Amino acid sequence: MILGILKQIPFFAELDSVHHEAIIENIRMHFYPADYILFHEGDEADKMYILKSGSVKVFHPKVDFEEDLAILSPGSFFGEMALISQNPRNASVKTLEDCELFSLSRKDLQVLMENTPAIAQAISEAMVERTDLNERRKKGIL
Ligand code: CMP
Repeated sequence: MILGILKQIPFFAELDSVHHEAIIENIRMHFYPADYILFHEGDEADKMYILKSGSVKVFHPKVDFEEDLAILSPGSFFGEMALISQNPRNASVKTLEDCELFSLSRKDLQVLMENTPAIAQAISEAMVERTDLNERRKKGIL
């Protein structure tokens, strides 16, 4: 059943059957209600997430408001940056509605990227784009 679900998500479309099986052994599926904080900016990280349904907000928590960075929809992934950079989470993420999410451990992400160039490329491109957006926002260009 989980293979069918994974295949519908663009992130996993390039997985071949051998690596599908390796991932399926370890992948976790989670259900979270609306308004649930998945993690806080500054937290240590041990997993990344792929959104199957629902939406989440990426934001910087400020003293009296939330500075929104992005709203992510089904098929999107997040939490990859801290795993790859080995830095703490660079933003907080919370659900905006009920969500179904898959989580991948740091080790599984590493195996996945080593064996699936299309996924490694998608993750690298997203990281560059997100880092660039956040830098420009910090400098007030956005
Ligand atoms: P990480 O640093 O592990 O935790 C916060 C996550 O928010 C980060 O990984 C990215 O996955 C995501 N993120 C950070 N900045 C942006 C952005 N500008 N657009 C979309 N997602 C982002």
